[in-house]
This record gives sequence, structure tokens and C-alpha cells, in this order.
Amino acid sequence: MQATLDAQKTQKARNIMGQFSTPYPLALDIMQYMKNVIGKDGVSFIEPSIGTGVFYSAYTEVFSGGKEILGFEIDPHYFNPSKEFWKGTRLQLRQGDFLTQTPDYEYDMLVTNPPYVRHHHIDVETKKRLQADVQKKTGIRVSGLAGLYCYFMLLSSAWLKKDGLSCWIVPCEFMDVNYGEAVKKYLTDNVQLLHIHRFNDNEPQFKDALVSSCIVVFRNEPSNKDEIIKFSLGGSINSPENVKFFTTRQLKPDTKWTNLFTGSALTESAKATIGDFFYVKRGIATGDNSFFIIDQNTIDRYEIPQLFLRPILPGPRYIKGDCIGSENGLPDVDRRLFLFSCNLPENIIKEQFPKVWLYILSGYERGVQNSYICSHRKPWYSCEEREPAAIIVPYMGRAESSRKMFRFILNTSNAITTNVYLMLYPKPEYAHYMKQEATLKKVWHNLNTISSNELVCKGRFYGGGLRKMEPNELKQTPAGNIGDILTGKAQLSLF
Ligand SMILES: C[S@@+](CC[C@H](N)C(=O)[O-])C[C@H]1O[C@@H](n2cnc3c(N)ncnc32)[C@H](O)[C@@H]1O
Repeated sequence: MQATLDAQKTQKARNIMGQFSTPYPLALDIMQYMKNVIGKDGVSFIEPSIGTGVFYSAYTEVFSGGKEILGFEIDPHYFNPSKEFWKGTRLQLRQGDFLTQTPDYEYDMLVTNPPYVRHHHIDVETKKRLQADVQKKTGIRVSGLAGLYCYFMLLSSAWLKKDGLSCWIVPCEFMDVNYGEAVKKYLTDNVQLLHIHRFNDNEPQFKDALVSSCIVVFRNEPSNKDEIIKFSLGGSINSPENVKFFTTRQLKPDTKWTNLFTGSALTESAKATIGDFFYVKRGIATGDNSFFIIDQNTIDRYEIPQLFLRPILPGPRYIKGDCIGSENGLPDVDRRLFLFSCNLPENIIKEQFPKVWLYILSGYERGVQNSYICSHRKPWYSCEEREPAAIIVPYMGRAESSRKMFRFILNTSNAITTNVYLMLYPKPEYAHYMKQEATLKKVWHNLNTISSNELVCKGRFYGGGLRKMEPNELKQTPAGNIGDILTGKAQLSLF
């Protein structure tokens, strides 16, 4: 339908209205990226210049749920067939100029490829109106040379929730030309820029429009000057070829930003903290370790099948080195333990696994089911499902110990941990890099170079030289040069 509709218009007419649609694979890639950043389903979504709805199509592929979905399209040539095509779906379509609409809802997410209409196709009156509108809403003065897509970006936040996410495929030129200063000012002062991905100039994304494009992602919240921003170049947004990091403070609206993707000067990750790169979670709380954490003897005695077992690490004093090897996924430790967890109803266990039922009965006899955690679970003998983490930290450290007070342990096995450890899970945008063994090891080494002082001043003091580290305290600890490592710029001498 897109091809047919495009063919019915001249190239010139499409140019004047900025009508170059996004290839579906690119839309899908962007939507998958957004899902990773948002991390949940059921998000409301606005598309300000929807064309035939390629981003809505990708949205339905990637996100489930989500009731409020709105698209605007000015041109009946695209609007009418789209309206017919998407009839009966959750997509609400309105014909009209997005730039004259009054926001009537705040959405979780905006994703679009706005019209790249050049300034000489915008009439003087419209330009004046848009400039005044931007000035009123953002305090920013826009040059008369700015293309229509700049106004789309600058006027979009009123449609977003306070921390809503906004994603734009736009021409790269705003990063270098004078009129782009307004957009750069907006991205550094008015909202929280998160990521700019620039495509390689020799891989144009739109076969019928000769522009080099980038994807700009920002959050609709006040700018934090210490926030780390990702600049990636080449490949795709989910798997870029080169990545650099800057803080908002380092980005100056009156400088050329396209240099930043390739230049070397500015990477400064000193401000980054562990929480910028990792989610930090306590290991699981079983409710009664003496019942749920079992060894091979118990497994043999009660004939507990693999199905109900997950490898789990013993306490830190049983972990000798700082790296846990793996034998077919099982941890290479002296005390090999397993988490017992089962979510089948009692009658099925009784019938199909009579020995396992005996084990559960032994738990009943000891009153395990009455512990606070167990009594809030259904069934009480099913524990939290958790992924293993490649890096873990014992959550208690002792000051007088000869070894480092807090150590980061590399876990190459599939074992999970109890809450005597903190578990570090890479954030989605970095997970890809940390899947590479060499990079993960560099990150781990780097974490172990963080001085005890830095770690301890975040942790809490207890009697007898005992210190504890809560997830939030670890998250706030400076992360050394992990940002550099992730960009492939690690100072190898460190390792
Ligand atoms: C670059 S195309 C992208 C369409 C679609 N978002 C996609 O990615 O395939 C921009 C679309 O915006 C529409 N458009 C142009 N000016 C508009 C305006 N002021 N308000 C709403 N839509 C507009 C054009 O007709 C065109 O369909």
C-alpha cells in the first residue's frame, strides 16, 4: 500500500511534504530498542506523523497491551487508506496538522520519523507561529532556517508523560548546522537526552531520500547535567559498531556534534556510577535456607528431579578465588548446592513425585510454610525465578580481613545466589557488550580496582568491623572507567 501510494505522487510533491516512509525492519529495530529501555508492556504510544503506520505495525509486534495509541497524519492521500487499513484495531487516527493540535493526553512513548520539510517550503506565517509557540513552551528561539522536523521535536513534550520516552529518526544535519542549535539546546537543557545513534553515511536508511539519518532518544524529564549519554555510530541502534559516552555537561549546543561520534577527546566516564551500567539486586530470599538449599545427599534421598532444582552458590566463605568456573553450567565450588523450588500443586506432587512430597512434608513438620516469606507465596515451596548474574558481590565485608573488604566475583556458571550476595545485571543497553567474554572480564577487573575506601564510604558500618553494602549504595559507587571499556577504549595497562 505504501509503495502504491508513493507511486501516485511525484518525488517533488513528496519532498514538499516530507513523505518518505520508514522501512519496516528499521521501525522494528527501533521499537525493540524502545522495549528494552522501557522494559514493560502496556505502554501508551503517540505517532505524530504516522503515514501508513509502520511504527504502529512494529509496536504491535513488540509490545503487548497498551490501550491509548494515537496517530496524526495531515495528508488525506495517506490518511484515508491508513484509516481503512487499521480499522478495528487499537490505533486511533486523526487527520490534521500535528503542530496545531492541543494535547489531550500524556503518552508513555513517542516514536516517529517526522516530515523533513525544508524551511523554504514552510510559509512565513506558519514559521512565525511555530517560532512563537516554541519560544513560549521551551524558551528557545528557533532560526528561520530550521526544517519542520525541528518544530515537531521541540513541540512534542506536552504530549508525553513526565518521564515519557521520545524517539526520532531525523537528518544528522541538526548536529552541525546553525539552525540545529535550538534542537541541541532543547536536548541538553529542556529534556534528558539518552542516546544518539548515527547511521553510516554509506548506508542510507531511506532508499528514496538522500539524507544521512540519526535516531535521537530522550526522556521527558528535566536535564541532569551528570547523566551519561550514548553516542553510537554505524550498525544498528541495538548493535552499533562504535559507542562513546558523554555527560550532558560536555555537550555544547553551539558546537558540532557529529565530531563526537569519531573524535577521541571528550570521553569522560569519571562521573559514571555502577548503577549507570547495572541493575543491582539482592540474591533471592528463600524463606528458609535450611529447607530450600539442599545438597546432593538430600537430592538422592528424596529423588528430587532436575526440574525442581537450580544450582545456587554457597556463602562467600566457600568461594576461594574471585572467579567461579563452570562445569556444564554447575559452579566449580567445593560445596555444590541446589535451590529446591517447585510450583506444582500438592496433589500432583503426591501422585507423581511421592518422594518429593515426603520432602515437602518434612518442611511442614518444621513449620517452614509459616515463615513470613513462605506464607506470602503460592505454593509456599516455590521460590522466586531468577536469572544468574555474571558479577556478584558478597553483601557483607569485614574490615580487619587481609583481603579486600568487598570483592566482585565473576560467576561463569548458571548458579544463582541467595541474599548474602548482591547480583549485578547489565542494563539492556550494555548487556550486548558484556555478553562478550573479553569485555565482561575487563569490566570485572575494573570493578575490582575500585578502592575499598570508595566502596566503604557508600556502605554502612556495623560493630566488629563488619560493613554491609545495600543495592542502592553499590549503585552509587563510582564505576571507574567502565564507560571507556564499553567503548573499547579500556586502558589495557590496568589489566
Ligand atoms: C517522513 S514521513 C514518515 C511517515 C511514517 N512516520 C513512517 O515512518 O513511515 C512523514 C509523514 O508526516 C506527514 N506530515 C507532514 N506534515 C505533517 C503535519 N504537519 N502533521 C502531521 N503529519 C504530517 C506526511 O504526510 C508523511 O506521511
